[in-house]
This record gives sequence, structure tokens and C-alpha cells, in this order.
Amino acid sequence: MTDMYSASMMPKLEWEELFSTGIDYFDKQHKVLFGFINVLRSNTVGKRNLEVVNEVTDSLLNYTMTHFLEEEIVLCRLDFPGFADHKAEHDEFLIAVRDLYIRFKAGKSESRLIAAEIITVVSEWLQGHILVKDKAYGEFLLQKGFTPEMVK
Ligand SMILES: [Fe+2]
Ligand SMILES: [Fe+2]
Repeated sequence: MTDMYSASMMPKLEWEELFSTGIDYFDKQHKVLFGFINVLRSNTVGKRNLEVVNEVTDSLLNYTMTHFLEEEIVLCRLDFPGFADHKAEHDEFLIAVRDLYIRFKAGKSESRLIAAEIITVVSEWLQGHILVKDKAYGEFLLQKGFTPEMVK
């Protein structure tokens, strides 16, 4: 299990051009997700407010679910060939994170420890997923003339 020390040692998640999918709309959402992770991490170290950890964990997970749904809607609508595979990776991740979230909310072990584990899992997974799976849809969506209205 990840402890507070290792979570606090993780470098701040900085969004760089390397993470760009070519789709501004989704890049902006990825930046928001990085921001939530950084706020959460800075509040799990030392005597920070557990209320903030609680609120930001809620926001991070809600935002992640909305973001996944929007990607899935547009990939499905435009018949992206990797849609099923992409959605399966989202689903697998949500199952793992929901498990951590339930333990965090139920107070089954020290909240800060679980929060630290959530940060590590989310931040590592998110970077890997964006760099491989999300970047793979960029060119396709551009060719299909993506507009944000397509996720509505
Ligand atoms: Fe994705
Ligand atoms: Fe994404």
C-alpha cells in the first residue's frame, strides 16, 4: 500500500505538450484532472484539512467519470475502431478506484493513507492512459471534424 511519504515524494503533475491529444477540449479536461490530483496531494501531507481531501476526492472521481463518458460518447458516435478497447480500459480503472473510494468514505482504514493510494493510482494510470490510449484518438477525431457539441 502506498503511504503518505511516497505520495508526497511524487513530483507535481505538470501538463506538458507531450500529453496533448490534439483535441483542445479533452486536453483541458486532462489539465483539470491533473489539477485535482495536485490539490489532493498537497492536502494529504502533514496536518492538512481532511475536509479538503474529502471534497477534492469527490470532485476528482466525479470529474473523471464525466470525462470518460464524454470521450466514450464521441468515440462511439464517430465509430472509432478502438472504442471498445478504450472503454474497457476506462471501466477497469473505475472498478479499481471505486473500491479505494468506498474504503476511503467508509473509514475502514486511515483516510489519509487511502487518499494517498488514490492519488498514486490515479496519477500513474492517468498519465499512461493519456499517453497511449487518448493520444491514439486525436488524429482520428481531427479528421472527423470533432466539435465539443458532439459529446452533448
Ligand atoms: Fe480515455
Ligand atoms: Fe482522457
